[in-house]
Amino acid sequence: MPDRRKFLTRAGYTTLSALLTMGFLQKDKQKEDQTTNEIAANYPNVNSPLRQLAAAKGKRYGAAISSEFLQTEKDYADLIARECSIVTPNGELKWNATEPQPGKFTFESADAIANFCEKHNIEMHGHTLFWHMGRPDWLPYPPTLKMIERHVKGVMGHYRKSKVLKSWDIANEIIADNENEADNATYGLRKGVKRELIRDLFLIAASVDSSKKFYLNDFGIEGATWKSDRFLKMIEYLKNSDVKIDGAGIQSHLWFSTAYGFDEKGFNSVLKRLNDLEVKPIITELDIIIDTPLPDSIKKLDQMVADSYKRYLDLCFAAKVDTVITWGITDRHTWIRHPDWMPGKTFRDNPSLWKFLRPLPFDENLQPKPARNAIAKAFSS
Ligand code: G3I
Repeated sequence: MPDRRKFLTRAGYTTLSALLTMGFLQKDKQKEDQTTNEIAANYPNVNSPLRQLAAAKGKRYGAAISSEFLQTEKDYADLIARECSIVTPNGELKWNATEPQPGKFTFESADAIANFCEKHNIEMHGHTLFWHMGRPDWLPYPPTLKMIERHVKGVMGHYRKSKVLKSWDIANEIIADNENEADNATYGLRKGVKRELIRDLFLIAASVDSSKKFYLNDFGIEGATWKSDRFLKMIEYLKNSDVKIDGAGIQSHLWFSTAYGFDEKGFNSVLKRLNDLEVKPIITELDIIIDTPLPDSIKKLDQMVADSYKRYLDLCFAAKVDTVITWGITDRHTWIRHPDWMPGKTFRDNPSLWKFLRPLPFDENLQPKPARNAIAKAFSS
């Protein structure tokens, strides 16, 4: 082929492929604009702080927060003060933070959060007195009754007169993940944990400070599951033992996907059972992961996360839940992006997918996401 023809043919291909690419890009752009418009229509920007929208309905919105970031990131501290009426310390009240050596208590970082709360008129939810994780090396699980007594007296005693700390997760995650890991088939407690020990823990707590609200907190109970069944049985047992227990913390680390949905019927029955038992359900650690198949853009992912927040909260509010705490407020600090906690299979071995871990209402730059507007809409409706 003469050079000139070769050149023209090549030029023709180049033009054709450029036109095709432009066509595809235009289509992509149209799709993206459509997603943006849908998001804007479904979740319009509501500028009022979430705490204000929640308060208008007699509800509370809050987040798990870290004393370290309160001190080092002013934009983060300002956002918490603006949006939250309740906060949970991310780790500052765990056993390894408050009693790092047997009988030696430290409250510096937890007090920093309490002081911040006082200054900004925020309530503090105490998390937690008893957990199989967040333990100093010297502490066995379960701890002995003597250790429990010293710890509960030390920690609850320190906050007895607090103006902001109004509630405690007395025990966290005591139910095993499945029958094989359980000590007892009926109550499903983790290996070594006897129901009487949990009863005594609640009794000790009540003897130290019964002015606070007492919660049993767990995850994986947002549906009719082996775990929620055991969780409810433990609550019934505690109620029948005349132990002070005011509420159930439903953590709500939720996983959604286009491939699997959410057991609304089962979750409704859990909430109903708790209400029947006069144990108040609150949402203590909400965040939302979308698993494979992943959508083809971040915008769509954000929309799916927002839709999931809205669906979940509508159901909670219909069942009279009045408190929603997200586990963090910004994707900048979500535990889910931490290498130790990164969710299995899909994400751990695929760093290119980490950008799809966007479980919280504000993005890395503390800008509101559709999820934030979905929470606002749920509080307002
Ligand atoms: O603060 C230190 C930092 O100074 C150090 O450089 C760094 C090195 O890894 O560690 C930092 O501490 C980490 C801490 O989180 C603060 O980010 C700890 O290693 C890490 O173990 C700790 O993890 C926390 C975990 O509980 C254990 O306490 C997560 O942030 C926290 O999100 C997670 O929270 C739990 C709830 O309490 C119960 N429900 C599940 C939830 C998520 O796992």
